[in-house]
Amino acid sequence: MANQSAIRTPIVCVMGHVDHGKTSLLDRIRGSSVVSTEEGAITQHIGATLVPIDAIIRMSGALSRVNINVPGLLFIDTPGHHAFTTLRARGGALADMAIVVVDINEGFRPQTIEALQILRNYRTPFVIAANKIDRIHGWRVHEGQPFLKTFAQQNERVQGVLETRVYELVGKLSDLGFNSERFDRVSDFARNICIVPTSALTGEGIPDILMMLIGLAQRYMTGSLRVTADGPGAGTVLEVTEERGLGMTLDVILYDGTLRVGDDIVVAGNDQIVETKVRSLLKPRPMSDILVEERFERVRSVTAAAGIKVAAPKLADVIAGSPLRVVRGGNRDEVIEQVRHEV
Ligand code: GTP
Ligand code: MG
Repeated sequence: MANQSAIRTPIVCVMGHVDHGKTSLLDRIRGSSVVSTEEGAITQHIGATLVPIDAIIRMSGALSRVNINVPGLLFIDTPGHHAFTTLRARGGALADMAIVVVDINEGFRPQTIEALQILRNYRTPFVIAANKIDRIHGWRVHEGQPFLKTFAQQNERVQGVLETRVYELVGKLSDLGFNSERFDRVSDFARNICIVPTSALTGEGIPDILMMLIGLAQRYMTGSLRVTADGPGAGTVLEVTEERGLGMTLDVILYDGTLRVGDDIVVAGNDQIVETKVRSLLKPRPMSDILVEERFERVRSVTAAAGIKVAAPKLADVIAGSPLRVVRGGNRDEVIEQVRHEV
């Protein structure tokens, strides 16, 4: 059992304008190719993937810190297409931290700004991935390397172009009221947003962005990320899908407490509250997105934060975006009120 002082898995939302490389960045981290399964490479849903801490340490290599007490990161992918504002807002509401992905060659676009507004509203700490650095003309690729290492091996012209584009981002962020700097020049992480130049295609800068996220989690979020492992579960329904042999199921992000087989849960249906009982819980493997996973592991219980597929009776009417609450210790009326209030 997790002890009181354990930090729960932080939820990291990946946001930004369409095609700037959100899913590709996650593909690089997971070693997967979800983008290639998407119609027109357009994300149309919120996905969730658990990346365990040992995988993060492996990718960060020499950059990884000592004394890491974060168990891993639960990444949420969101769509950048303008039609999906609701999904971005839902992702933003769940996030403990975020990565805003910006194509360094295109700069800020409307959904970049929308993402920043959502993060500001929720006071969510974030880093900027200034992505697609490999597209800078003349860039010499150093596969998977930390940013400073590859940067040092670029010629002066390429270095100059990168610097100019980073400062354009700093300027845009400043117009929106955010102080920012290239990450390696930031000394006060509470006052400055870090800009990490990355390539989702070559993996350059990925070690840095992972360490920035771990740093953010450890330094600033330990208060809100401590959970009592035994508290009643609370989550958000991402999708309602029919699965062969299981009937209707819910893809859920559990952001607080635990959820167990046999738990009474409350969710929101189209026009009424649904009370039901968890029949089975199916966990995607680490590094797999819950939306594309095919081999789930059956578990008896799950602790936040996690992406989990929930099978139960009476789910046909449940709406995506609904809150999910566990009834435990005589809190039924309170839970029903909460779900009603949150829909
Ligand atoms: P939406 O989910 O639709 O908002 O897009 P997205 O932000 O998830 O972008 P996606 O990862 O689908 O990438 C869009 C295109 O850009 C794909 O063809 C990727 O291969 C390409 N791409 C993404 N990151 C990089 C990068 O760092 N370098 C290069 N050269 N191409 C990239
Ligand atoms: Mg995408």
